Amino acid sequence: MQLLTQALRCKNKGRPPVWLMRQAGRYMPEYRALRAKHSFLEMCHQPELIAEVTQLPIHAFGMDAAILFSDILVVAEALGLKFHFEEGVGPVIEPHLRSSADVDFLCPLNVSEVLSYVPEGIRMVLPQLRVPLIGFCGAPFTVASYLIEGRASRDLKKTKQWMLRDPEGFHRLLKLLTKISVEYLKLQINAGVQAVQVFESWAHVLAAAQFKEFSLTYLDMIVRELHSTDVPVILFCRGASSFAPQVAKLNPAAISLDWSSDLESVRAQVGPEIALQGNLDPDILYAEIPTIRHEVKRLLHAMKNDRGYIFNLGHGIHPDTPLDAVKALVECIQNN
Ligand code: CP3
Repeated sequence: MQLLTQALRCKNKGRPPVWLMRQAGRYMPEYRALRAKHSFLEMCHQPELIAEVTQLPIHAFGMDAAILFSDILVVAEALGLKFHFEEGVGPVIEPHLRSSADVDFLCPLNVSEVLSYVPEGIRMVLPQLRVPLIGFCGAPFTVASYLIEGRASRDLKKTKQWMLRDPEGFHRLLKLLTKISVEYLKLQINAGVQAVQVFESWAHVLAAAQFKEFSLTYLDMIVRELHSTDVPVILFCRGASSFAPQVAKLNPAAISLDWSSDLESVRAQVGPEIALQGNLDPDILYAEIPTIRHEVKRLLHAMKNDRGYIFNLGHGIHPDTPLDAVKALVECIQNN
């Protein structure tokens, strides 16, 4: 059995598996060459390109797991909204949601029809992969924030104003997104992904009580709905490492942590039954190679003999990360 699959079940007696969030992305020249020919959306929409980009980092660096090439925002299409990627701006959603009246006017479409290019990409890439494939979606709060802000925002002011002024309408949107996300993850699972990760990338803007009400409630529903599939669920709540014990109570297979936490302490808090993933600061990949090796070894040492440890970064890899740094990181873990 493969290392990732074993580690997700806290049964890995070998070295820890390694993969990197955003490993299929712009830091790779092969990705940039494809992006010069296609828009980001075209790349997300074409099964052949999904299959090709998903494999790029595995061929170049030999990570122990692949993550599906896609984006958390494709689900907007299942709500009849459009998204595109603007150079220097990031993802843009049109039209963006302004109030709960807009939620009532949304016409949710058939997820398996609208997003059929995703399972097609999965089915195309699986026979070519020798490592497990991780599917994913955005958590309802994080996706809601993009639908409401419309484009990159530092503080999610519109989202939080809506959440605080009209919590009931905001919950309606989160419920709708939860339903779509569960359908979407099941679509990926039926196509054959061996694990799924839910990205709550904006958890850090929420106060503790807000995190519980507007994030955990829906992550709980997602984990419960997927329980019968037996496919491990990894929960990543950026900036919310201090809430790891509450996240652990939802009983996901794994928790992915950002670099603000100390993995050994989290292990002591959550017990031995939940896998832990993370949590190297992605900026460390800007350091000299010996420093990178030193930091990687420090983490490996801290999690030595832990049967449920998965090496990853604390967040996505930066687009200007040197390739030699990625190579050194993967080698250091695999040859340690
Ligand atoms: O390699 C992988 O991890 C798989 C593919 C993947 C992408 N986006 C590709 C991508 C995954 C898992 C995501 C998740 C995603 N997308 C998240 C959650 C993870 C996180 O980083 O917190 C979020 C918040 C998004 C929304 C999104 N998509 C943003 C904010 C951006 C721009 C950010 C930036 O780095 O500029 C994107 C675009 C995006 N998604 C790119 C890629 C490879 C770059 C697009 C390009 O080619 O120019």
